[in-house]
Amino acid sequence: MAHQPRNFDLKGLDGISDNQISQHRDILYAGYVNKLNEIEERLKTVDISKANQVFSDLRALKADETFALNGVVLHELYFENLGGKAARPKGKLADLIAKAFGSYDKWAENFKACGMAARGWVILGLCLYDGTLHNYCLDTHNFNFPANTVPLLVLDVYEHAYVIDYGVKRPPYIDAFMKNIAWNAAECRLEGVDMAMVAKSAAS
Ligand SMILES: [Fe+2]
Repeated sequence: MAHQPRNFDLKGLDGISDNQISQHRDILYAGYVNKLNEIEERLKTVDISKANQVFSDLRALKADETFALNGVVLHELYFENLGGKAARPKGKLADLIAKAFGSYDKWAENFKACGMAARGWVILGLCLYDGTLHNYCLDTHNFNFPANTVPLLVLDVYEHAYVIDYGVKRPPYIDAFMKNIAWNAAECRLEGVDMAMVAKSAAS
């Protein structure tokens, strides 16, 4: 069955307008879902006997498959982790942030700087290789993507995420994002990770 865009009820955010959110969600994100469906349909009938690394239909579809898929998934994670009220993370997530970065404030300073350094996305992720949290910068949905990492918090820094509200000024948008983080979404994502397995992997 074809994928369907999810409905994220995000109204009244602090510093990110309803118009900004609705155009981002209903036009751009929904477009990625439609293109993922189209790619998956075409992959069913593509001529794999013509596969070629310089150019082939299979190569083009496979390159765009991960672009579209990550475009869907990263947007869903982003919309999911918006709508909070500026509370700080709690419990295990707060502990891991303090362990990796020294304090919440130091993490936030680094995360915001990554927001200025990245061309597409910033991810606070749990790297299963070393069992540690990292802030990662992605230049597109499928470029610089860290392997074997669980995304806990996702920030979209593509210009389309803030141009309606702030023109080309990214810093006030990043500040607004920080005020609207739904930390419970990140905490739920961390809950799904088997930390015993992470520790075992990191120690071996
Ligand atoms: Fe986006």
